[in-house]
Amino acid sequence: LELRSKKNRINRCTPVRQYSTDTNNIQEIALSKQISENLQRSLISAPSPYTEREAHLLYAFSHVVSALPMDILGQLHNFRNHLHAPSMLHIRNLPIDPILPETPIDGGRTKNKTTFVSEACLSGLAQLVGVPFGFTGEKQGELIHTISPVKGKEKAISNEGSLTTFSFHTENAYFNFRPTFIGLYCLRSDHEQRAATTVVDVRSVLPYLSSENIHWLQLPEYSVRAPLSFERAHGDVLWSAWRPILSGPIHCPELLIRLPDMKVRSPKANKAFAHFVEALDSHKVISNIFLEPGDLLFINNRMAVHGRSFFVPRWDGQDRWLQRMYVRADLWEARGANQQDFRILE
Ligand SMILES: [Fe+2]
Repeated sequence: LELRSKKNRINRCTPVRQYSTDTNNIQEIALSKQISENLQRSLISAPSPYTEREAHLLYAFSHVVSALPMDILGQLHNFRNHLHAPSMLHIRNLPIDPILPETPIDGGRTKNKTTFVSEACLSGLAQLVGVPFGFTGEKQGELIHTISPVKGKEKAISNEGSLTTFSFHTENAYFNFRPTFIGLYCLRSDHEQRAATTVVDVRSVLPYLSSENIHWLQLPEYSVRAPLSFERAHGDVLWSAWRPILSGPIHCPELLIRLPDMKVRSPKANKAFAHFVEALDSHKVISNIFLEPGDLLFINNRMAVHGRSFFVPRWDGQDRWLQRMYVRADLWEARGANQQDFRILE
């Protein structure tokens, strides 16, 4: 039973400029002007993450740790380590580069950005919650991903799209090795500031499900489709092995979905899935986060799924521009994935 009909349901959602739901799922930190300016001054000399990656990471880590007060370090520490921490950490007032070139229109890195303040801030903070890594097949194997609308791919249901809603998904759901956290660093908002990063914490969905629904969602009855880029490389449509949607203890479950591209193999599991998607699309459980320049959002990719509402690009060099980083608690389980480069996996 292939379920594709639920896509774009959150198009009906009218985002509001606030956290729309249970704010216990979001931890917020706002940096003072002074800390932000100090960070910008110290990170303006950061080495390039693209040509001197490890030097960049060490520089960023040491300067970010030095610049942040103990209480903020403590909040990052809690977010990383506590099993019942919020699934989102929203850090505001971070610095961006004093000279910002035009937003790329091809989804790739611009060569015109010659300082690396945002990259260093992202990678410094990311190293406080885990180990940054990437995939050779994702954004040319770079550690810092450019997320901007791509001209000609406006309707793509991916990070390259803009005019269509990007449905809820676990990052890299098809693969066994996935980021523990995703970091999204905003350099520019969309013109109308309507692009919401939509996030749902699994713990807010559970109260809407019956115990029978939960039972079926814990069984290996579901399959997710591989990313298009991966299918293109293999020349075929690829589906994962049958897996559960909810795994682990139910008071602290891990969630794994990729809407709309999922298959279900039995009617009872299908019914539970329909209830689950209905609960997921409810206004009550969706957090709409409108990222502004200098915002960094970390999302726990085990506990929460994310998507994006639609927005309208203008192709004037000032469109929405995020930088993304994948972070894993550690890379042990990926050993052997790429003998040449321990951080960029194949
Ligand atoms: Fe994503």
